[in-house]
Amino acid sequence: NKKGFIFDLDGVIVDTAKYHFLAWKKLANSLGIDFTEVENEQLKGVSRVRSLEKILSWGNKTISEDKFMELMSAKNTDYLSHISKMDEDEILPDVPKILNLLKDKEQPISLGSASKNARTILERVNLKKHFDAIVDGNDVSKAKPDPEVFLIAAKLLNVKPEHCIVFEDSVAGVEAANAANMVSIGIGSEDVLGHAKYIFKDFTEISNEFINSLIEN
Ligand code: G6P
Ligand code: MG
Repeated sequence: NKKGFIFDLDGVIVDTAKYHFLAWKKLANSLGIDFTEVENEQLKGVSRVRSLEKILSWGNKTISEDKFMELMSAKNTDYLSHISKMDEDEILPDVPKILNLLKDKEQPISLGSASKNARTILERVNLKKHFDAIVDGNDVSKAKPDPEVFLIAAKLLNVKPEHCIVFEDSVAGVEAANAANMVSIGIGSEDVLGHAKYIFKDFTEISNEFINSLIEN
């Protein structure tokens, strides 16, 4: 019995959401636009381009294409300065345990992330070796909630979409998993991830029995 297990990165494997928050907040505030946790929640799982478009629309701002590119690159430079200090300590609780369990059970594992920095981050926290496939922001033309990222992952794992399980912390990502006809597992708060098939606060709440039931059903 083989299922495809697909993991989002930011907010699921590592807590980089806090660094995206810091970098977007700095940028938004420099443009005189308010940026709180509420706005940040809406950017989770959302591509870099789309995130900046949203921030500008919240502030009723229009800017030139050159300025847009400049701001995107400034945000990423700032974000990378946070990322460069990351290490294994920033892996979220029980993520290695789940990855090892899936490996023991010979289940194919893929990353399915919107981030163009995904490979860099996996290397920094030394988790790259756990993945049979990596699909990230460099590989897709349509961002979450479009299912493209997860459908590519399923193809690379050679598993049918309906036999894939997706771990996601964002609304856009859960929608993408559902649209791909995969089993969506929300990691985070029920208030936000209501559309997920299952919701857990974090991986410490996921038992071996639950993983076994996903593999068997
Ligand atoms: C993830 C994060 C988003 C981020 C996106 C693009 O989905 O949740 O907050 O905007 O990736 O990340 P990147 O590293 O390419 O800017
Ligand atoms: Mg995420």
